[in-house]
Amino acid sequence: MIENIKINSSLTKEERYRQLLPQVKALIADESDLIANMANICGALKHAMEGFFWVGFYFVRGGELVLGPYQGPVACTRIQIPNGVCGAAAERMEAVIVEDVEKFPGHIACSSLSKSEIVIPVIRDGKVLAVLDVDSDRLIMFDKTDEKYLTEICAMIKFV
Ligand code: SME
Repeated sequence: MIENIKINSSLTKEERYRQLLPQVKALIADESDLIANMANICGALKHAMEGFFWVGFYFVRGGELVLGPYQGPVACTRIQIPNGVCGAAAERMEAVIVEDVEKFPGHIACSSLSKSEIVIPVIRDGKVLAVLDVDSDRLIMFDKTDEKYLTEICAMIKFV
């Protein structure tokens, strides 16, 4: 049986990520199915990190983003690039950190409970294949530490 992700309580965010990363790596190492691995990454992040209200992937399909595996409340199915925070990250091919979603022009509110957000593009061979979107119900939840470790997690995903 698969072990659940183990994270000590009362850790800093950086320490949580440091404990989490090798566990995520092990979790997806022997599985080649993209959807299964993305689903487990969402579960691991939602379980391990504090204040992660919604964690999910959108796939790039033509000029739009289509909802993939996620954990959290139901979400918008399709987002036109470059709309919203997700579309902006896909268009710019770089992470976008939003401390207060109400101050991001064009933010798409899938849930009124979301207060801050980070989106990481998943890039292979110079193309954005997907984005990882994390929403928090707290303001100013995400920073460069999240960008660093979430980018490392995205780099672990095998597209075959
Ligand atoms: N807020 C996102 C939309 C996706 S949901 O948050 C899950 C955006 O502005 O792109």
